[in-house]
Amino acid sequence: MSNKKRPFVFLCTGMSLDGKISNYKKENSPISSDDDREMLYDARVRADAVAIGGNTLRFDASGLTVKSEKRRKERTDQGKGPEPHKVVFISDANDVKLGGNFFNKGEGKIFVFTTARTEKEKIKELEKKAFVHVGRGKKVNLEKALEILHGKGVETLMLEGGGEIIYSFLEKNLVDEINLKIGNLILGGRETATLVGGKGFDIPHAKKIEFLRVETFPNHIIIKAKII
Ligand SMILES: NC(=O)c1ccc[n+]([C@@H]2O[C@H](COP(=O)([O-])OP(=O)(O)OC[C@H]3O[C@@H](n4cnc5c(N)ncnc54)[C@H](OP(=O)(O)O)[C@@H]3O)[C@@H](O)[C@H]2O)c1
Repeated sequence: MSNKKRPFVFLCTGMSLDGKISNYKKENSPISSDDDREMLYDARVRADAVAIGGNTLRFDASGLTVKSEKRRKERTDQGKGPEPHKVVFISDANDVKLGGNFFNKGEGKIFVFTTARTEKEKIKELEKKAFVHVGRGKKVNLEKALEILHGKGVETLMLEGGGEIIYSFLEKNLVDEINLKIGNLILGGRETATLVGGKGFDIPHAKKIEFLRVETFPNHIIIKAKII
């Protein structure tokens, strides 16, 4: 971890056997034939806040809630709010619509990290629903964003995806733990989002993984790992 204070960041994402996190239609796609998302909802219990990238907000505006009264109670028993806060990293938010689940479901606070590429009028609109931080530069400065979140009491951040934002977190060495569900479907598609997008890593910079736990179920595998 760097010297600056930031939340513990854990990745929690589902992918198909061939590494796809959506399908070629950019749908919120099942990655296994049971389509059981309990792992995801359970993981949200642990998080002070759940984070997504801009495209995930655009294509798949989920409420990012824990989905059950039992999990809400688990959170309040731990002294947390009933639902995690929600965070989006979106450099250019001009096309974002405020009517969807992300901005309207759940009781957690909403944090939007954007840049001056988002027009002032849009920022004002977003501020009606969220804390908005407007950074310099073309893309959101993730280290700065994490520092701000930590200052707002976020000690554990769950990063759900998609692939572009995961790449940026990995590139900056900001991922502390990986939780992955690998489903029994093959989705294919050369343009389909994969677990890690971005430019990619060459051999010296490839992230090396230590597997901490592997659990096998009839329709999926769950892997817990960390970067070494
Ligand atoms: N299976 C799962 O568990 C799971 C989980 C989450 C998402 N998904 C899927 O993933 C797909 C989207 O993935 P994606 O890879 O296309 O996009 P993404 O990672 O969700 O979002 C990428 C966008 O994030 C914004 N961003 C802001 N700061 C950034 C930074 N420092 N580095 C990188 N990006 C930054 C950029 O927005 P601007 O365009 O404004 O610059 C960029 O275009 C969706 O179809 C969604 O359903 C699946």
